[in-house]
Amino acid sequence: MSAEYKAEGNIAVITLTNPPVNGLGFATRHAIVEGMKLALNDDAITAIVITGAGKAFSGGADIKEFNSPKAFAEPSLHTVINVLESSEKPVIAAIHSVCMGGGLELALGCHYRLASPGAQIALPEVKLGILPGAGGTQRLPRVVGLELALNMIVSGTPIASEKLAKTALFNEVVEGDLMQAAFAFANKVAAVRPLPKVRDIKVDYPNYEAFLQFSRNTVRAMSGPFPAPLKCVEAVAAAVTKRFDDGMKLERDLFLELVQSTESKALRHAFFGERAASKLPDVPDDTPVRPIKSVAVIGAGTMGGGIAMNFANAGIPVQILEMKQEALDKGLATIRKNYENTLKKGKLTQEKFEQRVGLITGTLSYEEIAQADLVIEAVFEDMGVKEQVFKKLDEVMKQGAILASNTSTLDLDKIADFTKRPQDVIGTHFFSPANVMKLLEIVRGKKTANDVLATILGISKKIKKTGVVSGVCDGFIGNRMIEQYSRQAGFLLEEGCTPEQVDKAVEKLGFAMGPFRMGDLAGNDIGWYIRKRRYVEKPQITYSKTADLLCEMGRFGQKTGAGWYDYKPGDRKAYPSSVVNDMIVKHSADLGITRRKISDQEIVERLIYSLVNEAAYILEEGIATRASDIDMVYLTGYGFPLHTGGPMFYADTVGLPNVVMAMAKYAKGRHGDAWKPAPLLARLAEEGKTFN
Ligand code: 3HC
Ligand code: NAI
Repeated sequence: MSAEYKAEGNIAVITLTNPPVNGLGFATRHAIVEGMKLALNDDAITAIVITGAGKAFSGGADIKEFNSPKAFAEPSLHTVINVLESSEKPVIAAIHSVCMGGGLELALGCHYRLASPGAQIALPEVKLGILPGAGGTQRLPRVVGLELALNMIVSGTPIASEKLAKTALFNEVVEGDLMQAAFAFANKVAAVRPLPKVRDIKVDYPNYEAFLQFSRNTVRAMSGPFPAPLKCVEAVAAAVTKRFDDGMKLERDLFLELVQSTESKALRHAFFGERAASKLPDVPDDTPVRPIKSVAVIGAGTMGGGIAMNFANAGIPVQILEMKQEALDKGLATIRKNYENTLKKGKLTQEKFEQRVGLITGTLSYEEIAQADLVIEAVFEDMGVKEQVFKKLDEVMKQGAILASNTSTLDLDKIADFTKRPQDVIGTHFFSPANVMKLLEIVRGKKTANDVLATILGISKKIKKTGVVSGVCDGFIGNRMIEQYSRQAGFLLEEGCTPEQVDKAVEKLGFAMGPFRMGDLAGNDIGWYIRKRRYVEKPQITYSKTADLLCEMGRFGQKTGAGWYDYKPGDRKAYPSSVVNDMIVKHSADLGITRRKISDQEIVERLIYSLVNEAAYILEEGIATRASDIDMVYLTGYGFPLHTGGPMFYADTVGLPNVVMAMAKYAKGRHGDAWKPAPLLARLAEEGKTFN
């Protein structure tokens, strides 16, 4: 049973007991109906209170059930709500903590609703690519009005219960003991007949057509590739334009259509992927964590400053250590300027500004940082410099401190072995700008202790990052994959594409930026530096020389005012460059390649499947724990389009046999060796299975 029934004198209490958030799965729905039967058949019972155990009233329908027939098995949520609404005895919802989605729809089916202050009230279905499918679009406008309901349903944003206290959603927002208040209220309304039903309220909104048309236009412009927001408007519109039962039918039809959509499946995948990423099979949930009350960052450059801001934003004091006063002053000034910009934009209060700036201090002395619980190194990407820093950290840091490196390419195990405490060393690979980007690749060294990993996974949540654990390898998960993507992008130029054509093809699919615009933003010299190292270390790997030729022209990207594209001073817009395009055409001629017209489909397939194939190696080697971790890396760190669910989910959607077939076609072209399917990919395709 996932709900408990108890008679407290003349009041029946049905308590949802389906941790963690009382999702309304089959067993819970069944138990609510059974509880209602008991209450209705017991003459001593005069009213029924429904509430949730633990940390939620209810987080809504059980999303885990969505892909199984259980989601629609009777009693459906509709049936449960009908049972509550048609009850001859008053039903009172006692709401606390979280009341979302189907949970709020359940409450709207009750005759009365009481809430504790601070309860998070939302219909967040749109964030999962669906719409409220158990009456939310019809009942919410009836209690909070058309405009507020539409905003809540289209945005999915939670509102604190006290802010809704003046609406008909709540009969009372209770300051004291919720259950005591619910019992008192139940006794007060025990004899009321007929019982009030939300469905009987009429939505009164003069000139609603103009409002709905305005909403459609605005939402259409904002919803990009996602169909759900506009369908939400359609369903809410029915609350004013149709009879209740007809509105319910429309809502149901739209819900069933959306729940099957790829976009919704992708969003649900991302929801669970984000949560799964913080779990490791060999690091149990109850692994003890080390307290992190203070942090030190070594290096106040591009990354160090952004990293420090994350901790200050979470209220944790940070010291930044530099070698020279000048570099320290420059780093601290950049941080201050960043905060000032946020303040100017009105996204930070003066009080928070002062608080955050005040939490970041600078030092030139290692002795001053010795008591920090966590130290993150962000100095030059050079093994010699890292060696110096880690030996010094080993010497000065208190025992138990976590020593982290932000290295993006170097061997973390080697860095750990510069210390006598490799178990305390871990990689924290932030993405630039570190105070903005959601992704944190957490690099697990061979000797990293479990409690160090558990601590960093916890800290990652605290600083609002999506932490994904990677094993040690060249480039970790994200950059190891992007290497193959960049190689293909280069080959496409040699064979007939322009940078603009390649960028546009993937941007049309929804990528935030194509590979060449991305290169110009990040700096083309970074890849050049890495390739030069690879030419020595791994001479068997082939690259297009176009990127080297570009760098030899001094075109490092936006920072030099020219890269794959031309830029105008003070303008980030990329203008196609005839100089670059001529260089590319000449290079093809030098290689004896006859340039050909390449379709957008080929561009997209070659770029994405090169990512997928490398990812399959990463997965099989155990560098990533699960396919969804790889998707989270790409969704949160590389601008991969959310509506596709990430590269692995995308490949699953296309069908792995189709991916392998396309790869076989490209294997016949130039650099065909790049298209040998990874054993895992070949195996799954053959067995008709998926990555996720
Ligand atoms: N169904 C199933 N599991 C759910 C769930 C749901 N609706 N909501 C949360 N969970 C699970 C999470 O997967 C996670 O599980 P795990 O511990 O095994 O990883 C656990 O609950 C805790 O979740 P969070 O880590 O997100 O915990 P927080 O305390 O940070 O947040 C929350 C709690 C605000 C409820 C947040 O989880 C959330 O926003 N959940 C989604 C709510 C939602 O979208 N509801 C609508 C569902 S669709 C619906 O109701 C359809 C209906 O209209 C017919
Ligand atoms: P940066 O060159 O901007 O900053 C490095 C800073 O470290 C400089 O301010 C320098 O004065 C300081 N420094 C150097 N040696 C030091 C020492 N011994 N003690 C104290 N301070 C010292 O470099 P950036 O870009 O911030 O990179 C830092 C690290 O982060 C590197 O390992 C890099 O690979 C990694 N990284 C960089 C990303 C980027 O986009 N820039 C992205 C992800 C990781």
